[in-house]
Amino acid sequence: MAKASVKPDELIFQMRKARSAPDLEPMLQALYGAHPGYAGFRKDLDRALAEAWKARPADLKQLDLQRDLEPDWFQRAEMAGYVFYIDRFAGDLRGVLDHLDYLQDLGVSYVHFMPCLKPRPGDSDGGYSVMDYRSINPAYGDLEDFKAVSAALRARGISLCIDLVLNHTAKEHAWAQAAAAGDAEAQAMYWMFDDAALPEAYSETLVEVFPEHAPGNFTHYPDFGKWVWTTFNEHQWDLNWSNPQVFLEITKIMLHLANCGVDVLRLDAVAFMWKRMGTRCQSEPEVHMILQALRACSRIAAPALIHLEEAIVSPQEMLPYLGRGKHDGREGNLAYHNSLMVQFWGALATRDVRLMTHVLGTHFPERLSNATYATYIRCHDDIGWAVTDEDAAALGMSGPAHRAYLSDFYEGDFAGSFAQGVLFQVNEVTGDKRISGSFASLAGLEKGEVELGVQRILMGHALIAAFGGIPLIYMGDELAMVNDYSYRDNPDHAHDSRWVHRPAMDWAVAGKRHSGQSAASQCFLGTQHILARRRATPGLHGAHPTRVVATGHDAVFAVARGAPTGPILCLFNFSQYWQHISGAWLQAQGITHWHDALSDQIVTLHGDHLALPPYARVWLT
Ligand code: GLC
Repeated sequence: MAKASVKPDELIFQMRKARSAPDLEPMLQALYGAHPGYAGFRKDLDRALAEAWKARPADLKQLDLQRDLEPDWFQRAEMAGYVFYIDRFAGDLRGVLDHLDYLQDLGVSYVHFMPCLKPRPGDSDGGYSVMDYRSINPAYGDLEDFKAVSAALRARGISLCIDLVLNHTAKEHAWAQAAAAGDAEAQAMYWMFDDAALPEAYSETLVEVFPEHAPGNFTHYPDFGKWVWTTFNEHQWDLNWSNPQVFLEITKIMLHLANCGVDVLRLDAVAFMWKRMGTRCQSEPEVHMILQALRACSRIAAPALIHLEEAIVSPQEMLPYLGRGKHDGREGNLAYHNSLMVQFWGALATRDVRLMTHVLGTHFPERLSNATYATYIRCHDDIGWAVTDEDAAALGMSGPAHRAYLSDFYEGDFAGSFAQGVLFQVNEVTGDKRISGSFASLAGLEKGEVELGVQRILMGHALIAAFGGIPLIYMGDELAMVNDYSYRDNPDHAHDSRWVHRPAMDWAVAGKRHSGQSAASQCFLGTQHILARRRATPGLHGAHPTRVVATGHDAVFAVARGAPTGPILCLFNFSQYWQHISGAWLQAQGITHWHDALSDQIVTLHGDHLALPPYARVWLT
């Protein structure tokens, strides 16, 4: 315990260190204890934590205290996020300042700047190939601009999320350059091999992330005679997290970013951080130990910061990123609810929610400790049809046939499909076909199903706003923006169909969002309304249980939120046909006020039934 004569600032740091020691020490011991340089590493890490705390600006230290007092800040119904590329939204960082009113008009309290740290030149995998974690992408501005924008957002009560890529750096990063020049210490930061024997042995059990444009998981560089582990693209070199030096350097970067005013760090591609021969090298137990240790470091030196862990994997594999078992309450604060997204699209195609109800009802707990989901319908990535054979079989379906059907449907090939998407990374070996496309194009607007398409978008937004977690609206979806095929003319993008759903913001359309009956204004006003009603419904707090309920209607999905003030039963009609839900059944679910918190109206039953129009959504209390 620190002495009473110690200054309050130092005392707080010591207390936070003591608080998080049980989360940090055992992880570091288990991961790196056997390393010959462990004692030195441990001292260096303590020094890095102390220096980061010393450098932390006073206003952020105040935010730390505020969030210590309100640790559920990110789970509250006020939270809603918006995700965009800085250049495509506003030209550059300073340009974002001109659009703060737009963000507030939509009703968001969190923005995610898509990768904004200095990328390699040319194709940078949308900025996920970072050559300098301490500089801002010069096309967007510099660190001073970044700090100014983060302060302006904070002043409006908007939190800022940015990406920190943990699995790899660009091959142009200084460490990689030194490694290529033969520096042994730098080489130890990566996975490098003298010959093909180990890469071949590992490859036996690895999967390919980009089988079309970047097949294989290793790259041979004859100029310096090494095989380098490159899970993603050739220019993205996997970091070797079994080396404590990697942990130390990334921790310093993480805290530096926190001190620039970042509230949420999206930790990219975390599943791949630990390699073990004979496995897929995804989600190995050590990954969770590293992530818990990183989390403990932020809680010591930048406690206002929270972690969003990006792991697009099966439900059973995803939940541990939110801290399960021995990591309960100690790992990610947020993780993407990929299954909710996949099941939304599956049910929309089939007009049948039974698989969705089965998957979301059986694989996910009703509550999480100190954590919640990032809920979304579209993001900058493709949609992979992550439906297991077992889950499909539970509904009497074939996994491969169902996945193939979903690809065909969303590519737009299937007879009667309302969707228009583009294939991404067709894997000839596994038959896997992923899909790119904007929410609006996949929901029918590009093919001319405007009215129903708008209702599908609004149903999706009402679902992610109510399910539990922070709903993330992906830029353009609030204006029903369709696919943008111009990426095909850009040599750095043409090979990657994910650019089809990364359009530039249409400010002319956005300017007319409050007038007329266009699809864009209906979507904007509808989404704005959904987020406003979410704010007005504290019972949707992320810590309240989320219970998936079978309605007995194949087209109606239901989730009951267990608010202490009484249940909120959220119903979603996944079809273009009217559905009629029995009033007695609703009453049995605890509905007594007959208030729809979404429309803020009292609902009336018709002949003892609640009538749900096509793609209707209600939040009944
Ligand atoms: C994440 C990103 C994706 C990127 C990959 C490699 O999955 O979301 O866009 O390609 O990481 O960094």
